[in-house]
Amino acid sequence: MPSSATLTARPRAVVDDRASEVVLDRVGRSFPMRSGTHVVLHDVNLHISPGEVVVVLGASGCGKSTLLRAVAGLDTPTSGRIHIDGEPVRGAEPRCAFAFQEPLLLPWRTLAGNVAIGLPRGTPGEEGRRRVRELLGLVGLADFAGHRPRAVSGGMAQRTSLARALARNPGVLLLDEPFGALDALTRLKMQDLLLDVHAAAPTTVLLVTHDVDEALQLADRVVLLGRDAADGPVSIKDVITVPDDRPRDRGSAVLADLRAHLLEGLGVDRHNGARAR
Ligand SMILES: Nc1ncnc2c1ncn2[C@@H]1O[C@H](COP(=O)(O)OP(=O)(O)OP(=O)(O)O)[C@@H](O)[C@H]1O
Ligand SMILES: [Mg+2]
Repeated sequence: MPSSATLTARPRAVVDDRASEVVLDRVGRSFPMRSGTHVVLHDVNLHISPGEVVVVLGASGCGKSTLLRAVAGLDTPTSGRIHIDGEPVRGAEPRCAFAFQEPLLLPWRTLAGNVAIGLPRGTPGEEGRRRVRELLGLVGLADFAGHRPRAVSGGMAQRTSLARALARNPGVLLLDEPFGALDALTRLKMQDLLLDVHAAAPTTVLLVTHDVDEALQLADRVVLLGRDAADGPVSIKDVITVPDDRPRDRGSAVLADLRAHLLEGLGVDRHNGARAR
């Protein structure tokens, strides 16, 4: 039975059948340390609808990557349960695909060869080649299929990494600061690209970022992780639903209000920078 704090999912009108539902029920994670148990996450409750884009914001070290790893089955929570489409997560999750801040491409393979690594095992050759072409087209790299990673820009490498993750046809796409290593302009372009990709392949997305504007540009909902007390465990402090108008006007008054609210939640004074706490 879900806890009373379980957050209600927002329904979506159009849902692709490969988009998964993700439910986190009282998830906690602690690590044994020499000085005692280090509780990182405590009582995290979240219900993500199929096809929803949820962005996780929080200070460095608060447990964002730990949370994503737990959903992917790469790490096991010490308490609570995670279900994807009603099935418990136990071990590396075939329904999830991960992309990180660094694209982690194999330098000796072409971009097409790198994307092909993401194809489900046993995909027949011709179908695989068609799918790789389709995905490279989706991320705007149709003309670069034969290039090696060293011959393309950081943004192109990251687009390849996104295509490789999508090649798995994942129910859940987990993105851990995917644009964190890119320059500001490329980052904005990648945000637009991710939205286009999501419109064409509306999988469920759980994305971590430090960037409040990025969160507001991409998210259906923004989940803010934080602590109640300075040395307390981290849980969900706030969840905001971003109005569903797209394309979003980055300068709109509504987004400015939400930005101020999130910065406050992160403990950042808009005029004087981070508060000491
Ligand atoms: N395997 C581990 N053993 C011990 N402690 C760990 C382990 N993995 C994570 N931690 C601790 O859990 C906390 C959260 O780490 P995590 O990497 O999830 O933070 P984060 O929010 O992703 O940070 P950042 O924004 O810097 O990437 C940190 O205090 C970290 O030291
Ligand atoms: Mg992290």
